Amino acid sequence: MHRVFVAAVALLSGAASTVHASEFDPLLGYTGPQLYQRFCASCHGRQAYGDGPVAPSLKVMVPDLTRIARRQPGGEFPEQRIREIVDGRAVLPAHGLRDMPVWGYELEAQAPPDQPGRAAAQSLIDKLVAYLRSIQQ
Ligand code: HEC
Repeated sequence: MHRVFVAAVALLSGAASTVHASEFDPLLGYTGPQLYQRFCASCHGRQAYGDGPVAPSLKVMVPDLTRIARRQPGGEFPEQRIREIVDGRAVLPAHGLRDMPVWGYELEAQAPPDQPGRAAAQSLIDKLVAYLRSIQQ
């Protein structure tokens, strides 16, 4: 299922969404917004409103990421939970498979074997989470 989505994302966005080892190094220099446009915009939309080109082909609604804080009872951005959702490894959905790729695996598994992939993936996820925090409305 996951592979099908990755293929669909690659096809529809016109850019490969999987990460290749040779691309990992340059990726470490990406800013949060660049990482977002590269890996997330195909589903969540360029401005994160949940309206990316792949969204209509998914069975579930793609959430608007500019309103994460607003959806919380206290209006606070739930940083730790969001980090876990993006990473994906610690979050098991209540029902079936989740539709979003598990970015922790996607990013870490593709790191060059001589590099600490987990730490590198974590730094990319940190940048993505900081970016999401910055776009809350
Ligand atoms: C293949 C489409 C797809 C891609 C690509 C994608 N997402 Fe998602 N995302 C979803 C869907 C669908 C959900 C709703 C939960 C679910 O079903 O998995 C979601 C949920 C989320 C949530 C939870 C929002 C909330 O309020 O609970 C966050 C945060 C998020 N995505 C961030 C990202 C980030 C960051 C990226 C890029 C690294 C990304 N997503 C890439 C489809 C995608």
